[in-house]
Amino acid sequence: FTPPVPPYDPTDKSGFSYETVLKRWPIILTSVIDRVNRDSNNLHAKLGSDPAGDTIIQARIAEGKKIIEHISKLKYEMARDREMPEIPDDGEPSVAIFNAELDALRRDGGRNTWFKAPWLFAECYLYRLLRSYFVQTEHWSAYDPFFAQKLDTFRGSAAVVLRASAMYFLLASTLQEIGNEKDLLSNGAEKLKILFEEMIQMCLWGNATDLSLLTHLTSEDMADLQAVGRDAQERRKTFILRDDKDSVWECIRGMKDGRIDFVLDNSGFELITDLVFSDFLVTYTPYVSKVVFHPKLIPWFVSDVTPPDFNATVDALCHVDFLKSNALAASDTKGHLASMVARWRAYLADGTFALSVPRSTPLGGGKGQGTNAEFWTTPYPYWDMETRANALWGDLRQSGLVIFKGDLNYRKLTGDVKWPAWTSFEEALGPLAGSFPLVSLRTNKADVVVGVNKETAERLDIEDKKWRVDGRYASSFI
Ligand code: F6P
Ligand code: MG
Repeated sequence: FTPPVPPYDPTDKSGFSYETVLKRWPIILTSVIDRVNRDSNNLHAKLGSDPAGDTIIQARIAEGKKIIEHISKLKYEMARDREMPEIPDDGEPSVAIFNAELDALRRDGGRNTWFKAPWLFAECYLYRLLRSYFVQTEHWSAYDPFFAQKLDTFRGSAAVVLRASAMYFLLASTLQEIGNEKDLLSNGAEKLKILFEEMIQMCLWGNATDLSLLTHLTSEDMADLQAVGRDAQERRKTFILRDDKDSVWECIRGMKDGRIDFVLDNSGFELITDLVFSDFLVTYTPYVSKVVFHPKLIPWFVSDVTPPDFNATVDALCHVDFLKSNALAASDTKGHLASMVARWRAYLADGTFALSVPRSTPLGGGKGQGTNAEFWTTPYPYWDMETRANALWGDLRQSGLVIFKGDLNYRKLTGDVKWPAWTSFEEALGPLAGSFPLVSLRTNKADVVVGVNKETAERLDIEDKKWRVDGRYASSFI
């Protein structure tokens, strides 16, 4: 599919991609160097205890040095707008896909350089190139340079996680008052919808960077929750440029024991909001009985969920040390968090919650299982899904609703091209439209915006230079 407008790229110096290539990527690359360096230094400290072990440690340290050299060179070349190198044949998926596109860009007027290539392509390529540096080693191939950062950030958001579980408990007790959880009286259905609105809003703002979305919630009774919820919604309303939650609810209500899919975005707190939302749908509605979560198979856009992250997030909440380090265990006096997590583990064990690949899938794994799980880490816009990842496309057609989380998924849904902001979401989806019911929950962190009326978009472009990119605005589209 060829859209009628060109992609965003850094040749427009006023766009966010220019700032990204100039400043943000070098910072990310430096943080990877620092991490590998720090871990290599820790290895140094272990030398000398056992001669057999020393040989392996020394080999690992030497490989770490090589990785750092690669990344330093990459930074140097990026800053000078050099050609983007081919991805070496490292045995993991998508090498040919990225290299063919590099070749096409080269032939198209030499656009295969860091400051000329389309932003979406170049950013996906960057994470795949980084991955190749680690895969080609013997001792770092399972290493995720962002893992520690993801877990640390999650530790920092412990308080909000606790609030989420407390809110969940409120929910549960309210629904018990209604009567049989799955026997929805008309009164019950109305309350259920209010709770659904809380849940989807939490899940939407879970994609924001400031993690402050739950600060409006207090642990009072349902009436209070309802009022607080509405107040909060009112406050956030002006920042939700398009809110299709009613249609989403209609879609969900049309299911019976249906399946929902989450195309995941970030690990840690955002993932928790996805799990809480899923738990609500499965436990307290008759509409959904299965949720499939789609992770990334390699470290991706710093914070995206990989299978090891998924496990680490759920495990961390059950792990005494993690809870202690956050004083979470002590604050969870009523055991809300513990019972919520116990239920998630049961759902994971009986398949109510499932990853799209086995939970034990290592980084870079998942090949040859017919799931096309590697599609999520290609540069393809989702309008190419039917042709590029037919098995995945066919599988998602079995779903009652596919929820695409976050900004990158939105960029891929719309192709990251310069649609006028008042283009309809459906048009921007291209051939993906109508394939399966889908909803996008996104806070704006990139230039591309669709489905906003012309006056609003033009006014914001003049009044508020950062409205497209700083995460304050959001949208839900179905
Ligand atoms: O801030 C811009 C950015 O790094 C984009 O490159 C990317 O689209 C986005 O953030 C990632 O955000 P999210 O985690 O919401 O997909
Ligand atoms: Mg992300």
